[in-house]
Amino acid sequence: MASLSAQILLCIALISATCLIIGVNGSAVERQREFDYFALALQWPGTICHQTRHCCSSNGCCRGSDSPTEFTIHGLWPDYNDGSWPSCCARSQFDIKEISTLMGALQKYWPSLYCSRPSTCFSGKGIFWAHEWETHGTCSSPVFHDEYSYFLTALNVYFKYNVTKMLNEAGYVPSNSERYPLGGLVSAIENSFQATPEVICSKHDVKEIRLCFYKDFKVRFAPLVLHHLHDLVMRFLSPCSSKLMYFTIYCQYSWLGLLARNMSSFPVRL
Ligand SMILES: *[C@@H]1O[C@H](CO)[C@@H](O)[C@H](O)[C@H]1NC(C)=O
Ligand SMILES: *[C@@H]1O[C@H](CO)[C@@H](O)[C@H](O)[C@H]1NC(C)=O
Repeated sequence: MASLSAQILLCIALISATCLIIGVNGSAVERQREFDYFALALQWPGTICHQTRHCCSSNGCCRGSDSPTEFTIHGLWPDYNDGSWPSCCARSQFDIKEISTLMGALQKYWPSLYCSRPSTCFSGKGIFWAHEWETHGTCSSPVFHDEYSYFLTALNVYFKYNVTKMLNEAGYVPSNSERYPLGGLVSAIENSFQATPEVICSKHDVKEIRLCFYKDFKVRFAPLVLHHLHDLVMRFLSPCSSKLMYFTIYCQYSWLGLLARNMSSFPVRL
């Protein structure tokens, strides 16, 4: 009896594995191993919006005085220790209805800062959240299995670790004239977050800050160091525990992107 149910279980396991490999339309979906840790990627609108060349309703940079003035969420990414990451792990298409109750918070704290429609796994291109869910969110199993808990948790982690506040409290306020030592920005976050973040500077402007977490959302050291030095990207891959090295020097943390636009020429409603 025991061996019969074991056989049945094995069959079910085999069938599910086959279902994963052969998708509905018969095309192959690569099975990917379980991820190692989460990175919460936060973007600085002051830098990203500086590159905005045209506006559209989906672009958070174009909301005039309602444009974000703190770090906003880019994504919550399941990553591997070796610096690679899984993507497009399930044949589940993004369904905005599942996160309709989170819409207010998502628009405010997780806006797209671009007009272009990013790639999605199964339908070509879609809205920012569709990209984040299909590309990254579907790989967050076994921690998350549905959109709602994935987006809700990302928001909650973002609320809990407010990097804008961590920087402010250490005296790092956005400034259009001052350039801050990258090491200073990193230490400021390290002191409150209790782990080293990844701070990404693009052309000497702070662009993104990434906080790392174990699967249970305990804080973890950032595994990678990215240096953007005049657009030159040097990526050092190392496990989370390894010593981090910083080469760059100064980073500007400014409002420029939010001030340079003539927002009134882009009256936008979401
Ligand atoms: C983060 O902290 C800043 C500065 O203290 C504050 O203005 C902002 O509302 C906080 N953001 C969130 C999402 O709590
Ligand atoms: C900004 O745009 C508005 C509306 O298009 C225009 O009336 C105004 O002159 C512009 N201001 C500047 C400083 O360019």
